[in-house]
Amino acid sequence: MDQIIVHGNGPLRGEIPIAGAKNACLALMPATLLTDQPLTLTNAPRLSDIRTMTALLQSLGAEVAPLQEGQVLALSSHDLTSHRADYDIVRKMRASILVLGPMLARDGRAEVSLPGGCAIGARPVDLHLKALEAMGAELDLRDGYVHAKAPHGGLRGAVVDFPIVSVGATENALMAATLARGTTVLKNAAREPEIVDLAECLRRMGAQIEGEGTGTITIQGVDALHGATHPVVTDRIELGTYMLAPAICGGEVECLGGRIELLSAFCEKLDEAGISVEQTARGIKVGRRNGRVRAVDVTTEPFPGFPTDLQAQFMALMCVAEGSCVLEETIFENRFMHAPELTRMGARIEVHGGHATVTGVEKLRGAPVMATDLRASVSLILAGLAAEGRTTVSRVYHLDRGYEHVVRKLRGVGARIERIKEE
Ligand code: EPZ
Repeated sequence: MDQIIVHGNGPLRGEIPIAGAKNACLALMPATLLTDQPLTLTNAPRLSDIRTMTALLQSLGAEVAPLQEGQVLALSSHDLTSHRADYDIVRKMRASILVLGPMLARDGRAEVSLPGGCAIGARPVDLHLKALEAMGAELDLRDGYVHAKAPHGGLRGAVVDFPIVSVGATENALMAATLARGTTVLKNAAREPEIVDLAECLRRMGAQIEGEGTGTITIQGVDALHGATHPVVTDRIELGTYMLAPAICGGEVECLGGRIELLSAFCEKLDEAGISVEQTARGIKVGRRNGRVRAVDVTTEPFPGFPTDLQAQFMALMCVAEGSCVLEETIFENRFMHAPELTRMGARIEVHGGHATVTGVEKLRGAPVMATDLRASVSLILAGLAAEGRTTVSRVYHLDRGYEHVVRKLRGVGARIERIKEE
């Protein structure tokens, strides 16, 4: 397993290109199952999760060809040869569940392994299943799989009122509803930019959708969808992650392709902490105003609130801020595993259930630390940039799931960082 070595750094300067959104692409790719015509996704990120989704779709008989070094994905599922999403793929990536709705809508049947939990929480899929049952799907849970069948005549429109906001359940229901007979209304739907991006792609494919980005999405089912070409939206989580690099180290960095409206709640918190955030024609320019970063309280919420996927990274910044703050994690039940690793670097963090109290210190100290999940891994790299001495992050395979070329991108703005094969 590889390691990443980071040396404490001075101010960073330069530009970081931001890639297409992993979490948008993982929903857009299964949309190919809704039509027998070609779907082309441009600005696709090159990540291990994308390769896992590619393997899953290919196991169902879809053709997926990464073109132009992976920036373009050409997908086509003319004839599905299987309707079974095997556990050995699903267990690697929970987003695999997103093939369930499209397969049901397209061919009226699907067998999808239940994804296990993961490091950050149990992450059930009951809301996905309830939404599809509301559309008439008959679901049988046995031997770790969901055996699903659409009623005779196919799925039918329904009103689905989600008891809690779920990105994945909204995406599964949205895709299924495009081919259901009649009207579907999704209430308390997720509002993330990745949902808006999926709706825009489905509309390009001939779907009739209104209200995406609000809490209520209305879909008029159609008989068939056709192919399309769609650009994957910018990755707001990668964007926020790299915005924190000049925040924690000092200097000024422009994140190319960034748009403030993708993460306005996060930008407001950076402003409160004393970080300057400026929208430019090419992206978002981030710099540290004079003096130390100030501690600010944060509560994670569904979009448009502060994203849970930036909580670990923001905690790294708060570890060197002036004062104390409370970070409240309301989305997942176990998303503070980066805290003990940051503590090894001299951070002062007390975790009680869903709350972490962080008291800033002048300087962190480099140390050997271990990545536990995707976003925790990159928070350790950010902390290493601000620490004295050398930080060695192990188990960086977590990082490869969501960040392409992290060493190259940070070196490009002056960071002292390298990737080595573990002894
Ligand atoms: C998506 O996960 C993202 N993943 C996550 O990003 C992100 O943290 C999450 O949304 C919240 O924004 C992808 O898009 C591939 P949810 P998802 O359904 O859809 C509970 C990353 O780092 N829930 O919105 O799985 C669930 O347990 C990843 O890129 C149910 O109870 O998240 C959680 O507490 C991590 N039943 C809450 O809802 C369900 O059926 C929100 O989960 C579904 C979810």
